[in-house]
Amino acid sequence: MVKIAPSILSADFANLAQSVQMVEKAGAEYLHIDVMDGHFVPNITIGPLIVEALRPHSKMFFDVHLMIEQPDRYIPDFIKAGADLVCVHGETCSHLHRVISLIKEKGAKAGVALNPHTPVQLLEYVLPMLDLVLLMTVNPGFGGQKFIPEVLPKIETISRMIKERGLVTEIQVDGGINAQTASLVAKAGANVLVAGSAIFGSDNPAQAVQEIRKAAEE
Ligand code: DX5
Ligand code: ZN
Repeated sequence: MVKIAPSILSADFANLAQSVQMVEKAGAEYLHIDVMDGHFVPNITIGPLIVEALRPHSKMFFDVHLMIEQPDRYIPDFIKAGADLVCVHGETCSHLHRVISLIKEKGAKAGVALNPHTPVQLLEYVLPMLDLVLLMTVNPGFGGQKFIPEVLPKIETISRMIKERGLVTEIQVDGGINAQTASLVAKAGANVLVAGSAIFGSDNPAQAVQEIRKAAEE
């Protein structure tokens, strides 16, 4: 069973609550919230205020993807604002074990994201602490980029590492996911699929959610 995580980065920011409710009604499980700081990635997006404003409008699982330096400074604020899961980039944390511990201590589920070039071996010794591993299938920073197929063997490797250890860690992919690439990543072992432009850029976002799910489950 796959989970679909629409990324609000491609939604209509003047009507965010409606956009969120539309994908919630379509059966999407996670709401993927992209936080960018203009330092780790060349773009600036959402802060805890938006998460807090959206929280009363949706029962979806809020999956907050922090593409920011020094994420430990903001983790408590995002969790207080309503994040169910906080995902930090492995590349931004010299003390990754400490940052994961902080997320859990503050009461949220913990994820670590890796850029396309970062080896999954970075996670070898923290894997049992993680609820989710996010493998970026584009270089983070913008929606609407092209899927990087070189990540497919990485998905297979992390999937094997998780199985060998008897863990139930979720494998999320993010970037360039649509009905075509969904089938590739699902076959490689991904079970949480983020999609921004393929959902919110579509004339019929509800149908796009269903099409991506169908392609992944075939
Ligand atoms: C990219 C973000 C993604 C983005 C994906 O840096 O992390 O979540 O919204 O957008 P699409 O699905 O359009 O590639
Ligand atoms: Zn993201």
